Amino acid sequence: MIRKEYSKDLSAMNTFGMKVSCSLYMDYDAPEDLPGIDFQSLPAPVLHMGGGSNLLFTGDFPGTVLHSSIRYIKELSRTDDSCFIEAGAGIVFDDFVRWTCGKGLWGAENLSLIPGEVGASAVQNIGAYGAEVKDIIDRVLCFDTVDKEFKVLSGSDCEYGYRDSAFKGKWKGRFIITGVIFKLSVVPWARLGYGNLASMLPADTSTLSPSDVREAVIALRHSKLPDPSETGSAGSFFKNPVVSAGRFAKIEKVVRDEQGPDATVPHYLQDDGIKVPAAWMIDRCALKGISVGGAALYERQPLVIVNRSGNASPEDILALERLVIEKVKEKFGVELHPEVEHIKS
Ligand code: EPU
Repeated sequence: MIRKEYSKDLSAMNTFGMKVSCSLYMDYDAPEDLPGIDFQSLPAPVLHMGGGSNLLFTGDFPGTVLHSSIRYIKELSRTDDSCFIEAGAGIVFDDFVRWTCGKGLWGAENLSLIPGEVGASAVQNIGAYGAEVKDIIDRVLCFDTVDKEFKVLSGSDCEYGYRDSAFKGKWKGRFIITGVIFKLSVVPWARLGYGNLASMLPADTSTLSPSDVREAVIALRHSKLPDPSETGSAGSFFKNPVVSAGRFAKIEKVVRDEQGPDATVPHYLQDDGIKVPAAWMIDRCALKGISVGGAALYERQPLVIVNRSGNASPEDILALERLVIEKVKEKFGVELHPEVEHIKS
């Protein structure tokens, strides 16, 4: 079944809490609803939305917002090592994580409490604590709005990268994800290497369950990130930049000139360069907690822009974004790029 609503208020449907509306909102229950939609006749542009947790509406949206209410989780098959679970695109991602952890399956636990829905997770390649959803995506079930048929894409077809996929690039707007088939591990597969995750768990990991790791991740997220039920945000606003060795040396020089020869820069070696945490750079620019209108940089994690007043406007957020980009560029010569997708009015 499809439900249509004109001039719908989207305030409760984007985690930033922007008070915006769209011309037409269409929510559907089943993949079978999709072939009957005449996409050409809908108010343009057409935006498919998940939980609205990685979007910044910069004003009222003139087009159509589509939303999936396809909600199911089922076990497809199991071997001695793996278990294949299919989840509908409209399942809240954390409900899926809770479900798999409850069954003792490994692979999703590090992604606990990431806001959003299953369909969007496969677009954005969400990640946290050393894991990315691509690590457990086996196949993606889609409706192809060009060929007008259902297709099954393999995880490798989707060209996953850091918070990136073909759904955001060459396939943008073409495929509607209806479900995802995940491959989870039946045998222990704890990934505790990121930051202080291991220190939150017992030293003897032999009896650890996915739910134990999930609880530790939830505690970590609570300590660093704003509670979405209290403060609007879209999680990390900026991506962590990857810089060249030459640029990294310049960043080190800036910090050593300021703090002495022993000062270090946190970094992670990547195939394509050196990743430097954007949060660290923003912090070094002394921007933590800074505000523009109702928007502010979260004190405990300055990578996150929050709707501090509850009444922040898109302009407040955009002005704060520009300020951060400018200050970081001025100090370190590095241009930050937003992770959050800007939806134009
Ligand atoms: N840091 C500071 N000052 C701060 C906070 C952090 O200097 O106030 C430095 C520290 O050196 C720290 C480093 O920044 O070690 C990295 O911080 P953190 O471990 O919190 O991770 P992040 O790089 O800021 C990424 C993801 C988060 C994810 C965490 C944990 C991106 C853009 N963000 O943040 O994802 O939860 O790792 O894995 O990759 C999201 O995408 O919405 C999100 C929250």
